[in-house]
Amino acid sequence: MPSIRFRLNGAPTEVDADPDRPLLDILRGKLGLAGPHFGCGAGECGACHVIVGDRAVTSCDTPLWSVADKDVTTLEGLGSAERPHPLQRAFIAEQAMQCGYCVAGILMSAAALLKRNPKPTETDVRAALDRNLCRCGSQNRMVRAVLRAANDMAPS
Ligand code: FES
Ligand code: FES
Repeated sequence: MPSIRFRLNGAPTEVDADPDRPLLDILRGKLGLAGPHFGCGAGECGACHVIVGDRAVTSCDTPLWSVADKDVTTLEGLGSAERPHPLQRAFIAEQAMQCGYCVAGILMSAAALLKRNPKPTETDVRAALDRNLCRCGSQNRMVRAVLRAANDMAPS
């Protein structure tokens, strides 16, 4: 079985697996990470989003081989209960979620946006979250939360 190397949440990682397997399978299975979620399995819902480089990608339809030598970030690499990322603090402050399912992928889309564009407009945020499904009606609060996080992260 070929060995694929990449950096996962900053740590060098090596996986022996079929290189065509979806990254999501590897992250949740072999690597035991619960952050990226399986939703549609077809690249349509965004629940499985992780960051590769500075872009949010759907890990359910991203083959393992394509992340060789790249930086992969999952929710686990964003923050923790003890040290939440500003986005996580802002989502709580704005009460910007009702389920724990889709929001994992939404946070990754937002984090990728802030990585590329630390001062996004509301239009930028809406465009960045466009590929994430949320059915509970929290979208406006999510946009406010991302803008709040961007503001909190800005150098004073
Ligand atoms: S599970 Fe990957 S986009 Fe829905
Ligand atoms: S936060 Fe999950 S459906 Fe809206």
